[in-house]
Amino acid sequence: MPRIPVSVIEEIKERCVIEDVVSRYVTLKRSGSNLSANCPFHSERTPSFYVFPGTQSFYCFGCGAGGDVISFLMRIENLEYPDAVRRLAESVGVNIPEDDGTPGERTIPRKRLFDMNRDAARFYRDALFDERRGAEARSYLAGRGLSSAVIKRFGLGFAPDDFSMSRRMKELGYTEDELVAGFLMKVSERTGKPYDLFRRRVMFPIIDTSGRVIAFGGRVMDGSEPKYLNSSDTPVFKKSRNLFALNYAKDKCAEELILCEGYMDVIALHAVGVENAVATLGTALTPEQARIMTKYTKRVILTYDSDAAGQRADERALGLLSEVGLDVRVLKLKGAKDPDEFIKKFGVDAFRDALSGSSPRFRYVIDSIRSKYDMSTDEGRIRAIREVNEYISHVGSAVEREIYIGQAADFFEISRESIKNDVSLIIRKRRGAQKKTEAAEIAREAAGFGDRVNRDKLTQLRAASCEETVLGMLAAYPEYIKDVTGEGGLSLSPEDFMTEFGRRAFSAITEIYRENGAFDIGALCGELSEDELSRIIKLGVGRDRLDNGREVFAENVRALRAERERQRAKSDDAFEAIRRLREKNKGNT
Ligand code: UTP
Ligand code: MN
Repeated sequence: MPRIPVSVIEEIKERCVIEDVVSRYVTLKRSGSNLSANCPFHSERTPSFYVFPGTQSFYCFGCGAGGDVISFLMRIENLEYPDAVRRLAESVGVNIPEDDGTPGERTIPRKRLFDMNRDAARFYRDALFDERRGAEARSYLAGRGLSSAVIKRFGLGFAPDDFSMSRRMKELGYTEDELVAGFLMKVSERTGKPYDLFRRRVMFPIIDTSGRVIAFGGRVMDGSEPKYLNSSDTPVFKKSRNLFALNYAKDKCAEELILCEGYMDVIALHAVGVENAVATLGTALTPEQARIMTKYTKRVILTYDSDAAGQRADERALGLLSEVGLDVRVLKLKGAKDPDEFIKKFGVDAFRDALSGSSPRFRYVIDSIRSKYDMSTDEGRIRAIREVNEYISHVGSAVEREIYIGQAADFFEISRESIKNDVSLIIRKRRGAQKKTEAAEIAREAAGFGDRVNRDKLTQLRAASCEETVLGMLAAYPEYIKDVTGEGGLSLSPEDFMTEFGRRAFSAITEIYRENGAFDIGALCGELSEDELSRIIKLGVGRDRLDNGREVFAENVRALRAERERQRAKSDDAFEAIRRLREKNKGNT
């Protein structure tokens, strides 16, 4: 079976939200920053099945089933891996390349793509400022309040309703294959011939933090669909790892960064001097983007649209951002659907005022829980408080819990004591349940069944524990893979793993990374069994709330290598001893 490229799997996973797919089969309930339900894969009365929006994965603490959205679909619909991928791809409109060897895409050098994008951006810009051809687009942009200084700063352009872009690019020496690989042209399914992808659209170049054009978004000027077309991923562009306008915002956001939903919101904000605004690129916020933000800022303010979809996006983004340690706040704009509209209506000062009143995460949680219940009845209040307590019980830090307990007490006018008691009770109950499963596991192992997935674990306890940390961190933070595949300073090879499972899992992870320049847990489906994949997910999920710093990773890699050296030395010693004994015996005869 030809492997489906990681880039395609990533694209599919970016577009489908695991909680949406899962909730077609089970009813999910919020539980802290995660969601839980009765497990669809084994029968149970209390929920131990969790969905983690932050990592877009699921895990059942009862039966050990776990995975990503693809393996969820495989299990629940009993599908083979490629079929599950196809099914999801269809539902979100991603094309799976049928034959693996599309020319161009694989071989086109990055430098060539950068040049091509730069030349295309110039072409689009010139078309916009062309007296005749750009008239309609210029008046559209003027109508949206953009001055020509702002238009130039963002390098906006116009794609005419003809094939003049490709004509010009060919004059400059680019081939059709190259233009297709760069997503400026697309092969028509009907005629088999390539055509200019962006036509009669206002063009927004996406620029990386080094100032290079890496992709485009193009907006229609009327109400037609789709409103925006965006470049797909290329070797120089991963939409999951870039943010619109970060090239400008990066120097203005040491304190806080404003995350918007749309290109137009960002441009409108920069235009009035709020230059610490960025947007995602036509997808929901990804874990990679959240991590990238930590490099530039301490706090992120979400200004998603005020509709239901926006609210869901808020919750997801809240989870992702606080998971990477950023302080997150939510800005709810009253009287306008997004920042662009808000500024047009009320001005930038009103926006700055709203900004300073953005609610911290916990306040936001209380507000959204409260809005679900009728607070004028005892019943409603009790339910709301119960849900807030449940939320607090999932907060890892005792100090943070204490603070939230105080706030909740003030808010609901209940004594701190009562809230604290209820929260402790929830925590104790959960620990009890966890201990029970752990005890059962230990009992199973002690009874000689061992670890089904990792059969060498019992005889390699010390090494297995390092291996689990390393594999868990690789799964949860794929950027560590670079560190051990030669690009980073740490060296680790499959031979350093003492358990057969660890060795195989590590080989598969690094192999996928080497082949694709990226890693996605979904790609392991083809390499490991379902149970093995679940174990890797469990290890990744297990890193939640632990210290996942580079030092911890490096320490475990070193410990693993040391353990191997130790065992090798021991066996060498044993070997040496036997050899000596033999010599001696020989001498005696
Ligand atoms: P919006 O529909 O909120 O658009 O989508 P907007 O940016 O506010 O644009 P205006 O104000 O209508 O001109 C938010 C973002 O979602 C992505 C784009 O990145 C857009 O900026 N999007 C939206 C798409 O990728 N495709 C679409 O068809 C629609
Ligand atoms: Mn808008």
